[in-house]
Amino acid sequence: MKVTYLGHASLGIEANGKHIIVDPFISANELAKHINIDSLKADYILLTHAHQDHVLDVEAIAEKTEAIIVCNAEMSYYYGNKGFNVVGMNTGGKAEFDEIMIKSTIAFHSSSFSDGTYGGNPNGYILEANGKRIYIAGDTSLTYEMKLIPETIGQLDLAIFPVGDHFTMGFEDACLASDFVQCNRVLGYHFDTFPPIKIDHEKAKAFFKSKGKELILLEIGNSLAI
Ligand code: NI
Ligand code: MN
Repeated sequence: MKVTYLGHASLGIEANGKHIIVDPFISANELAKHINIDSLKADYILLTHAHQDHVLDVEAIAEKTEAIIVCNAEMSYYYGNKGFNVVGMNTGGKAEFDEIMIKSTIAFHSSSFSDGTYGGNPNGYILEANGKRIYIAGDTSLTYEMKLIPETIGQLDLAIFPVGDHFTMGFEDACLASDFVQCNRVLGYHFDTFPPIKIDHEKAKAFFKSKGKELILLEIGNSLAI
């Protein structure tokens, strides 16, 4: 699996030759000006919740690529009614997409579209392909439910946590979250995009290091091989 950081909480994931775009908010992100959404490949668009900073570019990418939008039930009605290809899931459920297993997990946050339409409950996702497993927490606080992940799914190869604070957990809670999911390799996201979520990278990385863990903060456009 290959994980590319597309800025904010947007990720590009390659597995089994398929491309999954997670929570695309790129065209309005000043920090991601060098990423052209028209150049993105997508077989699937995976959405954690309906907030604008996660869904802004969904329709443009889906129109161009005809990708299948995978999300919760309420968001699948929203996009389905607009004529997009959708697969609705719900918390705790798993499904296979081209031999990529996707499991919907609990996230503590809120979810509505920018026009006020109800967006259902927010989620995170576990992705499993070729014997590798990553956890994308989505926008969430630290929650004890995370302890269920290693118990029910097994060992993770990478945990992706929000670290920007203010709207989600900050890096200190993300560090504890990595204990809960028993994965010491963490990719941080949902930071720096807006003034309230600007973080001191070195301080955040040093905090993880002091607990024997690794916090990876990728430059936008850079990738990690899992
Ligand atoms: Ni949000
Ligand atoms: Mn957000």
